[in-house]
Amino acid sequence: MELFSRQHLAELTERERASYRAANPRSAALHEGAEHLFARVPMTWMNKWAGGFPLGFATAHGATITDLDGHELVDFALGDTGAMAGHSPAPLARAMAERIGRDGGVTTMLPTEDAEWVAAELTRRFGLAKWSFSLSATDANRWLLRLVRLVTNRPKILVFSYSYHGSVDETFVVLDEQGRPQIRPGGVAPAYDPTETTRVVEFNDLEGVKAALAHGDVAAILTEPAMTNIGIVLPEPGFLEGLRTLCDETGTLLILDETHTFSAGPGGATQRYNLRPDALTIGKSLGGGVPCGAYGLTQELADRVVKALASGADIVDVGGVGGTLAGNAMSLAAMRAVLGEVLTDDVFAPMEELVTTFATGLRESIARHQLPWSVNQLGTRCEYRFMSPAPRNGGESVASADGELEDFLHLYGINRGVLITPFHNMALMCPETTAADVAKHQAMFDAALDELVG
Ligand SMILES: Cc1ncc(COP(=O)(O)O)c(C=O)c1O
Repeated sequence: MELFSRQHLAELTERERASYRAANPRSAALHEGAEHLFARVPMTWMNKWAGGFPLGFATAHGATITDLDGHELVDFALGDTGAMAGHSPAPLARAMAERIGRDGGVTTMLPTEDAEWVAAELTRRFGLAKWSFSLSATDANRWLLRLVRLVTNRPKILVFSYSYHGSVDETFVVLDEQGRPQIRPGGVAPAYDPTETTRVVEFNDLEGVKAALAHGDVAAILTEPAMTNIGIVLPEPGFLEGLRTLCDETGTLLILDETHTFSAGPGGATQRYNLRPDALTIGKSLGGGVPCGAYGLTQELADRVVKALASGADIVDVGGVGGTLAGNAMSLAAMRAVLGEVLTDDVFAPMEELVTTFATGLRESIARHQLPWSVNQLGTRCEYRFMSPAPRNGGESVASADGELEDFLHLYGINRGVLITPFHNMALMCPETTAADVAKHQAMFDAALDELVG
């Protein structure tokens, strides 16, 4: 039995939607007047925001966005991690002015001195010996999957059900309710059936992984150390170590996608939990939102790739790995500024303290309202899900999604100056997030639940 009626929820949401429209005439006009934009936005994902149209924004600094109608919002969405370094931190602004203005040269297909600095810093943090760059985490994953198939001579990869690694074709596979692989619902006209390229297992299911790898045709497991795109699903004790062991036993490579789990610390979950991936991908926040991505290889894997090139595979021209703008001077300058001066080793602990306060406040409020919800934290990010205990895997987590509740809570927040990520209920801190920002969210969340359940 739910503690609130769906009709009450619908009425509250309708009220919030009306306030949103009334308070944001310039954003509404921006959307309605965007006659030449497909779906009225520069990228169709921007229609994900609740309220019927997204806010247009005028400025963004640190953890604050000012929208077109002049409201200041505390930003816990941070571009769904792209802005984990905060919006336009001073070292990034300076690096961009120097690279583009003073020195000149956004892209030349020639290296700058920043590249080796960034690669060495990534090695220091994540441990992998060799690095290559892309313009997005999606492409880092895409290109790496080619390399792991090349060296293992195996056709398939393994992913966890309801994981997300960017728009990489092979990864759009989930398990249906009967545990059978199927194309992820909503997949847009896939070029081929990804159930043929990919084995899919539930997260935290080592027996399932063992059975899938027993076929001997999986080049690599591609996984986040904790799932972060279907709510946060944490690995159970021994799960990640178990993956490593199963990979070693079967000659399968292990790729960790740290694009979001970078929130676990300066060297992501890899450093924090002492993990030993064969390869690692990352993007988004690395360049403070300036387009970039990176993939790292152990020395052993790098040597294997070089050896495998004797088969004729071409990584220098049109073999399917790389792109003209990848590794450009602007991206590298951005990554150097962010790693060197913004997301430094010392900023993670205070950010994590704030998230711990944030998550504790959520838990207390949820308990006070007797709601069967749960909260998971991963370093500097946390997330609530509408089930308790917290989901163990993607299948459980997707079953707990509740679009009506999310719309209400997201709109309630926006109307009171608080943004959380539009895709689910995640909050992320940046170095400039303050205790007052967290308190503002808490007051909003308490008030929302008071209205919902009384
Ligand atoms: C874990 C993970 N990997 C890769 C990506 C792809 O990043 P991008 O969209 O910047 O290519 C995402 C995006 O949300 C992600 O969450």
